[in-house]
Amino acid sequence: MNNLVKFILEKKKKKKGVPFCAYIYDLKALRNHVVKVVKHLPDNCFMYYAVKANAHPNIISALAPIVHGFEVASGGEIRKVRAVCPEAELIFGGPGKVDDELHEAITKKVKYIHVESLQELNRLKEIVHHRRDKVSILLRVNLRDALPVGRLQMAGTATQFGIDELEVETVLAEALEDRYIQVAGFHFHALSNNLDKEEHLRFISHCYEKSEMWAERFGIPISVVNVGGGIGINYDDVEKQFSWSSFTEKLSEYLPKKENFPALYFECGRYLTAFSGYYIAEVLDIKQNHGKWFVILRGGSHHFRLPAAWKHNHPFEVIEVDDWPYSFSRPELCRERITVAGELCTPNDILARDVFIERLQIGDLLLFQMAGAYGWDISHRDFLSHSYPQQLFME
Ligand SMILES: Cc1ncc(COP(=O)(O)O)c(C=O)c1O
Repeated sequence: MNNLVKFILEKKKKKKGVPFCAYIYDLKALRNHVVKVVKHLPDNCFMYYAVKANAHPNIISALAPIVHGFEVASGGEIRKVRAVCPEAELIFGGPGKVDDELHEAITKKVKYIHVESLQELNRLKEIVHHRRDKVSILLRVNLRDALPVGRLQMAGTATQFGIDELEVETVLAEALEDRYIQVAGFHFHALSNNLDKEEHLRFISHCYEKSEMWAERFGIPISVVNVGGGIGINYDDVEKQFSWSSFTEKLSEYLPKKENFPALYFECGRYLTAFSGYYIAEVLDIKQNHGKWFVILRGGSHHFRLPAAWKHNHPFEVIEVDDWPYSFSRPELCRERITVAGELCTPNDILARDVFIERLQIGDLLLFQMAGAYGWDISHRDFLSHSYPQQLFME
């Protein structure tokens, strides 16, 4: 029995018959993974953690000594990181920043603010003039040219994100006129869950070409090209993951061939934290309806919204549990296809559909892998007012 299963069964025993439901984060595995990710980066490339993927303080503090800093997307995220590591480097993005958040970012010494529109730039200008504070910014660009295709597309198409590539020069000219604003570079986060490393390399090279073109045209030095996150997780085939080592081996070939090129910033979320998180939920019921087998969990999409949001079958395994407290015989399924549903009163509360299992009994546990990113943090946890899953950490 591996350590994770042992840990889960011990925790379940402590619940004394109350159906088990928890997130478990393996902090040691998290650290080992992210240390490797950072170690493989070529010179002048930096990894920031996008806090939105998982903002738990234990995750932030585990990553703080490893990553170069944190990407935050709200005043709340600034506070969450500052509460755990007051000195960490922060970069601040998001399409709808309010004035208070811009003030807070400046007061709390955010390194770069990613400006997403001309209006936001104008508000920031007023703020810095009023405060007489200098601020460094990156302009977030929504590129026009063909970009890699991901699970969600933030750029390369009509979205609310960034400045349309065709408007960048207008906004840049406005920014450069202001003595309190320093344009340090450009920001290009464009997509989620890209599994194609060649496409990602070409995307990075394209970001450099565009940045250097604007820098030359305006005669400005730039120090940063931020390519965002978007490195994917393969939820359909657990064995076939994005190979970070072969991606980073080739990365230098796609970077400018000169000394002192602008630093490459990544701000990854999913790829850093997904692997080391698990969502575990106990099987409460098994039933057949209209010819299909349904397994109902103590838990569901209000704890773990990702599979319902992305309409994918989330990979899971069955952990057999020996205890059976009731006097009637224990229902089980053998070699059947099941649909895994949660405890909510909506047919959308599905975590996996038509998945083959060897054997499953009521009272067993389903262990959903790769649940450490966009799991608990994106879930509608108060819908139906069920109790929350435990948040457990393995060292
Ligand atoms: C601006 C920005 N940066 C970084 C990320 C992290 O992306 P990912 O978790 O796909 O690496 C996101 C996620 O949506 C984002 O919006």
